[in-house]
Amino acid sequence: MSLIHTLSPELTALRETALTVLRSNDLGEVTRPSPTLYPHQWLWDSCFIAIGLRHVDPARAAAEVLSLLRGQWPNGMIPHVIFAETDDFYHAGPQRWRIDRYVTTATGVHTTGITQPPMIAEAAVRVGEMLTPSERADFYRELLPGLIRFHEFLHVERDPDDHGLVTLVHSWESGMDNTPPWMEATLPLTPRRVKVLRRLGTAEALDALRRDAKEVPPEERLTAADLFTLYRVVRELRRSGYEFRRIRETDVPLVEDVAFNAILVRANDHLTEIAAEVGVALPKRLTRSMRRCRAAMEQLWSQSTYFSRDFRTGKLLRHETIAGFLPLYAGVVPEERVDGMVKAMTSPRYWPGYGVASVPTDAPAFLPRCYWQGPVWININWLLADGLERYGRHEAARELRASILNLISSSGQMFEYYSPLDGSGAGSNSFSWTAALLVDLLARPDLPEIQETAARSAARTGVPGIPAARRATEDDRPAGAQ
Ligand code: SER
Repeated sequence: MSLIHTLSPELTALRETALTVLRSNDLGEVTRPSPTLYPHQWLWDSCFIAIGLRHVDPARAAAEVLSLLRGQWPNGMIPHVIFAETDDFYHAGPQRWRIDRYVTTATGVHTTGITQPPMIAEAAVRVGEMLTPSERADFYRELLPGLIRFHEFLHVERDPDDHGLVTLVHSWESGMDNTPPWMEATLPLTPRRVKVLRRLGTAEALDALRRDAKEVPPEERLTAADLFTLYRVVRELRRSGYEFRRIRETDVPLVEDVAFNAILVRANDHLTEIAAEVGVALPKRLTRSMRRCRAAMEQLWSQSTYFSRDFRTGKLLRHETIAGFLPLYAGVVPEERVDGMVKAMTSPRYWPGYGVASVPTDAPAFLPRCYWQGPVWININWLLADGLERYGRHEAARELRASILNLISSSGQMFEYYSPLDGSGAGSNSFSWTAALLVDLLARPDLPEIQETAARSAARTGVPGIPAARRATEDDRPAGAQ
């Protein structure tokens, strides 16, 4: 597929690197996030991957989205991982979940027992843009029944008291595994032997037992203590038969996750658009839930940002993270708040050099290269740039995209995440959604302006990715922030 603009030799080479990563992670009709660390299909990864693949092969991108329906549960859930048949290496594989005791999935595939951020409708609309009207209608018609059931599952099974917000049962559902609010919520489930080792200051000994840190150094992943706690949550979910009404009777952490709900609000808008295009009426109960969910996002706002909330106590989990900006992507932020949020997002606390960090750099939990405790993630920055655009903050959106372009091009590799301080790559270095979203960035009609901004920023500051205006020592830490 041709590009709108002719790329420079450097960007052509970078795009080729991205395409090579996508090709090498292609398992046929699905793409794994990375070769060894994530050898199966992940829900939101496939969605971001499709957003990139649509520029190369729209039919393959549509297949990537549709393939997620293979794993749909009878209750409508689309699982966070669909396991590939051949693998006994992955640390949280089928044996940990044993879903075959409880359900048969749409096509009999093995999956995990939880879901992940509902990016499917967004991916579908983006892929749809690249199809002919009749191809798009066929694609939408094939996807729609399963997609409606998935959204119904979220609004009914995960909001049983009809409060509006959807509740998650595992931090893996948030996609931001060790983000501070989730780690706080999960702490009470720490297994006794892990607590003992922690008290003795020898919890690192558990690193020898973990299988997820072979390809990547353990310090770039969540701690072994956190990992073993998350395994325990899986055990509790399994014992509850993955049913929310039973899970809520246990002490499994239950969180109304701000990022997940923001993505869902936007996905509901897309679902409405998809259904309208093919003339399908959405169930009344679903459209009512959609409205309630959008309105309930307001309950997560406090002072200067949005937080996730503990489902049981109703208390906000007051850790500032990048998730607090995603209501911009959802389009639920009243205009009078937007400038303050943009100022916070673009301040050196969050954006010290190379895109927006997952946790502010002055937070106690901040670690620049540790998974969701600080690094820059390309998918969330993609969502933020889109949110900025939505609110007419075009310059900030362009600067963010320019920063991401500088970040990936100065690294030259498709890392899973990057240090916001020095731009060094961490995690897997063949990560599919980084590759896919770079391909998407390079296909943007405003690429010349983004490149110009990127070049200006690098020339003025000497550091690629830092907007000159923001290098000042301003400290605009919002009042009441932790
Ligand atoms: N991110 C988790 C993992 O490491 C599960 O989604 O596999």
